[in-house]
Amino acid sequence: MAAYGLPEQGNPTTTTGAGAPAPSDEQSLSVGRDGPLLMHDAYLIEKMAQFNRERVPERVVHAKGTGAYGVFHVTDDVSEYTCADLFQPGRETPMLARFSSVAGELGSPDTWRDPRGFALKFYTHEGNYDLVGNNTPVFFMRDPQKFQDFIRSQKRDPRTGLRDHTMQWDYWSLSPESAHQVTWLMGDRGIPRSYRHMNGYGSHTYMWVNAEGRRVWIKYHIHTDQGIDFLTQDEADRLAGKDADFHRRDLYAAIDRGDHPSWTLKVQVMPVEDAAGYRFNPFDLTKVWPHGDYPLIEVGRMTLNEVPEDFFIHVEQAAFEPSNLVRGVGPSPDKMLLSRLFSYPDTHRYRIGVNYNELPPNQPRVPVRSYAKDGRMRFTKPDTGAVYHPNSFGGPDAAVQEGTEHAWWTVETGDLVRAPYTQHREDDDFVQPRALIRDVMDDAARDRLVSNVAGHMSKVTHDGVLSRSLEYWRRIDREIGDRITEAVGGK
Ligand code: NDP
Ligand code: HEM
Repeated sequence: MAAYGLPEQGNPTTTTGAGAPAPSDEQSLSVGRDGPLLMHDAYLIEKMAQFNRERVPERVVHAKGTGAYGVFHVTDDVSEYTCADLFQPGRETPMLARFSSVAGELGSPDTWRDPRGFALKFYTHEGNYDLVGNNTPVFFMRDPQKFQDFIRSQKRDPRTGLRDHTMQWDYWSLSPESAHQVTWLMGDRGIPRSYRHMNGYGSHTYMWVNAEGRRVWIKYHIHTDQGIDFLTQDEADRLAGKDADFHRRDLYAAIDRGDHPSWTLKVQVMPVEDAAGYRFNPFDLTKVWPHGDYPLIEVGRMTLNEVPEDFFIHVEQAAFEPSNLVRGVGPSPDKMLLSRLFSYPDTHRYRIGVNYNELPPNQPRVPVRSYAKDGRMRFTKPDTGAVYHPNSFGGPDAAVQEGTEHAWWTVETGDLVRAPYTQHREDDDFVQPRALIRDVMDDAARDRLVSNVAGHMSKVTHDGVLSRSLEYWRRIDREIGDRITEAVGGK
């Protein structure tokens, strides 16, 4: 046993960042015992300066979350729809998952009502494929112009620094296309019991391309094998005070005890010829494709089995981006998805630096032969023969992907417009949330919905916003709207 305050016999020596033995772990260099400190105590300066730079900016949304490594293995044969390497029969692909809440900051309680992020990174034989979804199949809007305004309405009031229910309902009630996502959010699934007990959805429509170049539209569904479970508002409120990290803790505790959570990945497949005549606009992110129209087809299972050895390195520095697509998978004309292809790499360059792909969680597990060079924190030399293309020194050439390029934009011509999507037969903002309430929820779930909404709306302080929000609910479902009105004592 070492004397108190002294290192254990045989412990290794502390070093400076440059690897030299550190002069002391505890005492700064001073002029005499009680005298002033000295600038040339480089080790003290190093410690203070490093500390001041320990934080990178938190993610502007989805700041609070947790992540784990795992594996995805293919259980069924979907090669008739996609040639993506990771979806070929029998393939096993290492992966990283990060789950998160959306509007809260890094220290916010895990059990606040909010959609949950469901971000996956697959380290495939053909480069990284990121599927950056949520635990909901739809979203609050269908045009990316509205995303920034929406997020600001859900974050803090600039004057008071408080989350503000008036801002939230003001935005929602002025944006009827939010009705489906808001109904979903106020229902049971709006607060999952744990990250292990929620589904993930790609939400957007994506394109799959097979080896012959045949294209289909698809939607991803990632069903929890632990079963769906939720927290009631009361349970969630209690937990928020008792353990703000409840969901984070649960995931790592489960993995550490060998109870590895898994999810089954399925897809809905729509032939491209169906899209124009489908009853809903198939690229509208506020709509699902009803299961009766396009049944789920199983693809494979992902299992999370490893807690990363360092949270900052592997979770905080993880950079997911819908633009990380691989051969066999492409975007669709969903305007939200197309704008996300720009947004994520851009925010990573700001948040963790231009060479973020060199950080451990983002490194592809295949050779990188890119002509990109230099920039802050660059530490691998590109293997390109020369720094330009074409070159005479054996540098790489792009492999043209005949027929599998993201080629859906075939003959769309016309004026440049700022206009909503083409309206399909049954497009209406209230039809699908109404189906959710009437056909999917049971009486007990409807009672909880009314109570959740009324509780949330009771904090709205503006009469006009309140009455417009009550009208919004009556348009979703007359009876539920009347019950909410009665519960908040509104008109
Ligand atoms: P289905 O009866 O085939 O599907 C209903 C689906 O609703 C279930 O499969 C389940 O999705 C999901 N669900 C069950 N309880 C809840 C809840 N409390 N909150 C949110 N979702 C729940 O009908 P349709 O496909 O015709 O869809 C009807 C409505 O169901 C839609 O308008 C939509 O609101 C909702 N929904 C539909 C999904 C879809 O992709 N078709 C996906 C999720 C919800 P899951 O199997 O994914 O767990
Ligand atoms: C995170 C933008 C819509 C899922 C983020 C981040 C930004 C962003 C800037 C922070 C990323 C980071 O710092 O690492 C946008 C924009 C959207 C949009 C501009 C629409 C126009 C969506 C939708 C989904 C989604 C529709 C789900 C279907 C996520 C997830 C994260 C995230 C899961 C967290 C990723 C992680 O775990 O690191 N988004 N987003 N976003 N977004 Fe979006």
